[in-house]
Amino acid sequence: MVSSVSPSIKTPNPGIKHPSQETVLTPRFYTTDFETAANLDLSAQESELQAMLAEMRADYNRHHFVRDEEFEQSWEHIEGGARKAFIEYLERSCISEFSGFLLFKELSRKIKAKNPLLAEIFQLMARDEARHAGFLNKAMGDFKLSLDLGEITKTRTYTFFPLEWVLYTVYLSEKIGYWRYIIIYRHLEKHPEHQFYPIFRKFESWCQDENRHGDIFKALIRSQPKLWNNWKSRLWSRFFLLSVFATHTLTVHERANFYHSLGLKATEFDQQVVRKTNETAGRAFPIMLNTEHPQFFHRLQKCSDYNLQISEIERSSQPKLIKFVRKLPLLIGIVWNLLLLYFIKPIDAEALRGTVR
Ligand SMILES: [Fe+2]
Ligand SMILES: [Fe+2]
Repeated sequence: MVSSVSPSIKTPNPGIKHPSQETVLTPRFYTTDFETAANLDLSAQESELQAMLAEMRADYNRHHFVRDEEFEQSWEHIEGGARKAFIEYLERSCISEFSGFLLFKELSRKIKAKNPLLAEIFQLMARDEARHAGFLNKAMGDFKLSLDLGEITKTRTYTFFPLEWVLYTVYLSEKIGYWRYIIIYRHLEKHPEHQFYPIFRKFESWCQDENRHGDIFKALIRSQPKLWNNWKSRLWSRFFLLSVFATHTLTVHERANFYHSLGLKATEFDQQVVRKTNETAGRAFPIMLNTEHPQFFHRLQKCSDYNLQISEIERSSQPKLIKFVRKLPLLIGIVWNLLLLYFIKPIDAEALRGTVR
């Protein structure tokens, strides 16, 4: 139950961390049109959603998020850059899990009367996200820091997204989350010498939660033909795929130190996650991006390079105006490359539907 889980994630440890400054790349908090959600006609995917509800009720990960004895030790040996990068990773992940919790909880509450099936599904997804956020916050506690999630709930700005955008973006963030967790897990299975903290051992079952959430959103998207059977839906899908991939690429390269400490190369990890998520998205979206186009990763990489140069300028002590003048061409470069990426001809996923991928 959501209500029984939420208090545990409100309890901050003694060292309360102020959330890092919000940028375009930080995970956002969303609100949406609850009336439209309550009135969704789910009949086209009713049996899929019933099956997903049964899986969610089964709660396979009920006993998974337990801090076993492996966590009971000092983590002072993780120092310097690696420590900072890991804390930032935990914080970003915690905020993003918590943002899912708040949105799902609110959706569940607001649609309960009109749409009990979907309300229960959202309530159970909120249960999972609360566990994930709580577990990450306790991991931050091992580094003597903790996020005051109650305070963040009140002070963060909420971005309004129409329900259709929520369905596209949450679907993608669940599936990209799945791939991020499982790729790290599988890598560490092969290279246990890089497993510097026990949370990574938890990722295998953890990512199955995200996979299930993604499947629920897939059923929701497929239940609304206007989200995949017309030109508008193809343009929106392209837009959201590209924005999620660009955000991922930029963030991974900003956090290259963290991936390095796991023995992963940021560029390889990034490309693997983008390719896999794109392939998966073809099961729900009308199109996939052409990641094999020779310019695709090349242009994403350019955006990331410009973004790193912008961060470098921001860290300098120059006057604001000088910083702005130096940043402007880089910002234009990012927008220009994203635009060119947007116009790379996508792959028609509807035409491929039914083939095994
Ligand atoms: Fe999650
Ligand atoms: Fe999730």
